[in-house]
Amino acid sequence: MKKAFITGITGQDGAYLALLLLDKGYEVHGLKRRSSAINTSRIELLSIHKNLPNERLIMHFGDLSDAGNLIQLIRQIQPDEIYNLAAMSHVQVSFEQPAYTAEINGIGTLHLLDAIKTLGFEGKTRFYQASTSELFGNSYLSPQSEITPFLPASPYAISKLFAYWTTINYRNAYHIFGCNGILFNHESPLRGEHFVTRKITRSVARIALGLQQTLVLGNLNAQRDWGHAQDYVKAMWLMLQQNNPSDYVIATGISTSVREFVKKSFHIIGVKLYFEGSGLEEKGYCLSSENSQYPIKKNKLLVTVDPQYFRPTDIKKLVGDASKAKDFLQWFPQITLDFLIREMVEADLNLIQKPHKTDYLT
Ligand code: NAP
Ligand code: GDD
Repeated sequence: MKKAFITGITGQDGAYLALLLLDKGYEVHGLKRRSSAINTSRIELLSIHKNLPNERLIMHFGDLSDAGNLIQLIRQIQPDEIYNLAAMSHVQVSFEQPAYTAEINGIGTLHLLDAIKTLGFEGKTRFYQASTSELFGNSYLSPQSEITPFLPASPYAISKLFAYWTTINYRNAYHIFGCNGILFNHESPLRGEHFVTRKITRSVARIALGLQQTLVLGNLNAQRDWGHAQDYVKAMWLMLQQNNPSDYVIATGISTSVREFVKKSFHIIGVKLYFEGSGLEEKGYCLSSENSQYPIKKNKLLVTVDPQYFRPTDIKKLVGDASKAKDFLQWFPQITLDFLIREMVEADLNLIQKPHKTDYLT
């Protein structure tokens, strides 16, 4: 039985990856932070939904800032594969906590790679690093692939750049099987509520049910290449099953604006939107909701812009070219953006109305 160690198992990707690996017969070890309230709700939701026994799921307390704790855990677990998903993952927050972000995302990754080396596990333990399309910044090349130069434009992206190159350096210097998955944005009903897609789908559900009046956002013009987390964790696993370590872009190749994502989300509840004005004065109103089970008055104000959600520097547009992953990993995204948005809006409606229901999860 293969053993995997997942840092960030309590996050969106950690939950989907743990379930994928349990399904494949792995013994899965997860790193979780001590918190004052239970923080394993995502993984519990998924395992109930998939009806998976979790005797093979073992959780350990720890933190990426604690090198001694990591070395001790890796010595004890002796994992065949480590998936480093733990991070301070919110780009806007990284501007407020740049040193903490560097410590966890950058030095934390170094701690893990150095633990593999110190323990002499170079030939045993394969390593996946959660790299990101944020590395490309406002690239002058589009779409972005593995050979596109990086122009990181946030403390988050800069911390991930350190981790990206540290993974490659430990691969070259010490022959650790280390891979960078350069993943473009991926979402799901388990996405954190402070990322824009989940903020939108949750607000649409709350507006439909009369619990909220308007959705307040920042940069509506930003464009992202949004895929589904369930598709993307399969790529993580595939990278560690190859004969040789390498780095791969994982993306859908389609970029959509935040404004369009908002329109598509309201469309799921039968509401058409129109936008007027620009910049801080841009507003979204209800155009029609005739066939909706959640009737909303024509011309009702539904979307506004607030500069508190603007970032000191933002990425205008990201779109990825995943040809290498398609050719070498036989990885193809299965879930479309429209399906993803429907799943997220329906999940948020369910969560408010029937909090214990899980059958909306794919
Ligand atoms: P997420 O939902 O924010 O999860 C982050 C995980 O990291 C959580 O389990 C969190 O624990 C844990 N964590 C944070 N700080 C930690 C620390 N100091 N020590 C140990 N664990 C810590 O993120 P995600 O969307 O699943 O993303 C997974 C990884 O992929 C991240 O590294 C992210 O930067 C990267 N990434 C994500 C995307 C995307 O679109 N989702 C795209 C490219 C790359 P708590 O639950 O206790 O907070
Ligand atoms: N969060 C947020 N909240 N973003 C908003 C809002 C808002 O109210 N309004 C507009 N946006 C814009 C942001 O300015 C950004 O341009 C875009 O929506 C996406 O923001 P996020 O959903 O926060 O994601 P991100 O692209 O910054 O970062 C995510 O994807 C990266 C991969 O490219 C995170 O998951 C990162 O961890 C990941 O590396």
